[in-house]
Amino acid sequence: MCGLYCLIALFCLQVGAQRTTTPSQYQEQQAYSTIVNALADAKRLRINLASQVTKSREELNTINGQLGYFEESCYCGKNNTIVFNSFLSKNAANFGLRQPIYFDNITLNIGNGYDARHGVFRAPRNGTYTFSSSVTTNAGSQIAIEIVKNGEQLVQMRSLNDYMWSMATSVVNVNLLKGDDVWVRHSAIGDANVLQIDDGLYTSFSGYLIHT
Ligand SMILES: *[C@@H]1O[C@H](CO)[C@@H](O)[C@H](O)[C@H]1NC(C)=O
Ligand SMILES: *[C@@H]1O[C@H](CO)[C@@H](O)[C@H](O)[C@H]1NC(C)=O
Ligand SMILES: *[C@@H]1O[C@H](CO)[C@@H](O)[C@H](O)[C@H]1NC(C)=O
Repeated sequence: MCGLYCLIALFCLQVGAQRTTTPSQYQEQQAYSTIVNALADAKRLRINLASQVTKSREELNTINGQLGYFEESCYCGKNNTIVFNSFLSKNAANFGLRQPIYFDNITLNIGNGYDARHGVFRAPRNGTYTFSSSVTTNAGSQIAIEIVKNGEQLVQMRSLNDYMWSMATSVVNVNLLKGDDVWVRHSAIGDANVLQIDDGLYTSFSGYLIHT
């Protein structure tokens, strides 16, 4: 049934059986089979190691993914500072209704929340922030301003129409989501015949992150 291959196999067995095995040949065979076994062990070990490496790599990827999430949501141990101060560098007048006031002299802007081009603070991340603004007018003029978040009023203030200089200041705390905008603008209320904002460091807009 098995034909030519069987015959060859039988022949080989016959020849092999007829060989007498000397002691040194026996030792060689022993050594040979030890090596073969050791190689087989090494191969199994290598396969085990390879699958452990694959598993470790998957675990590492999982941990990296989690780290990425935490880095995004928490600044644990990192420099979490977001703070800015800005001022008017010169007098400005005749603000239109709801016209933003552009505080052009930026003396501090850690975290780059304050956009120097537009005078708008854009929250770099979710959190609770504090903002304040002061406006100063000279004798005989007045101004009403408001701090707004995405165009919605947070707080307003008004300087007096007095015979001396007058200053109004207010502070507000607000929760912001990353990307929310906060700015100061001339508010609608009451002072159509406006306005002078004096120079120096009298008129300001500042803010900082309290907590993420
Ligand atoms: C910021 O808040 C929004 C709304 O609660 C949330 O969907 C988002 O995941 C928050 N971002 C981070 C980085 O925590
Ligand atoms: C955070 O970074 C700012 C800007 O690089 C730096 O001025 C400030 O000192 C840092 N604060 C801490 C606590 O390291
Ligand atoms: C901006 O304010 C600083 C004071 O913090 C002042 O030294 C500087 O001269 C001001 N710059 C301008 C352009 O007004």
